[in-house]
Amino acid sequence: MRTLSILSRKGGTGKTTLAVHMAVAAELRGKRSTLIDLDPQLSTFEWRKARLGHSPTPEVAEAKVGSLFTQRLAAARTGVDLLVIDTRPSTDLECAEAVRWSDLCLIVVRPSFFDLKAIVRTAELVRQLNKKALFVINQAPSRRNGEEVQAVIDTYESLIGLNLPVAPVGLRYRAAYQNAVRLGKSVEEAEPGSLAAQEVAALWRLVQDGLWPNLAEQGDEVQALVS
Ligand SMILES: Nc1ncnc2c1ncn2[C@@H]1O[C@H](COP(=O)(O)OP(=O)(O)O)[C@@H](O)[C@H]1O
Ligand SMILES: [Mg+2]
Repeated sequence: MRTLSILSRKGGTGKTTLAVHMAVAAELRGKRSTLIDLDPQLSTFEWRKARLGHSPTPEVAEAKVGSLFTQRLAAARTGVDLLVIDTRPSTDLECAEAVRWSDLCLIVVRPSFFDLKAIVRTAELVRQLNKKALFVINQAPSRRNGEEVQAVIDTYESLIGLNLPVAPVGLRYRAAYQNAVRLGKSVEEAEPGSLAAQEVAALWRLVQDGLWPNLAEQGDEVQALVS
């Protein structure tokens, strides 16, 4: 079993959106996944409620700081392939616990000055604990006339300076994400073949390569951010 945690020190960056999309991406490709929610708002439970009419998976479980170790063991015993930990904009202590038990951390950041400032500590923590991580730019505005928006370029360059890998594909700001989540779905289910679905598939490939390096597989190309 592999563990993926979704981190950022700010609310509204898209942690829960990414968590549910990565958990479903795994399920769609034949891996059993479970979502663990460390946020008392339990947004993943709301998503799951909307989902129950059409799919019984992935499972969703609530967790408290201090219980992750035992919850990981319990999930591993039931044959889960991937545990996705959704976190809240949290104290370092809580974040450290999620990072400690992770094989890969996705650090979610919007192209904004405040988001960038907020993730510096998270990046330090991940480096201190010597964990694999990937910055993911979420809610990136669309290109204008084919040109990347300056805020996205600046964010990308600032992240490179933090000495952790930056995902070359990010998620654009798209209504498709909000619509899919409201239906208890992923964009890969709600709008297969859409640009949003392609972004998620491309991000999943990076995540899969990070978690299961031996399985690295080929796939469709999605236009990279910034390039
Ligand atoms: N790529 C995106 N495009 C459009 N809306 C998004 C995107 N990512 C997240 N959102 C929206 O932003 C809001 C906050 O996202 P959420 O995943 O709940 O963030 P967090 O868990 O970090 O607080 C939600 O309304 C969500 O639908
Ligand atoms: Mg959330």
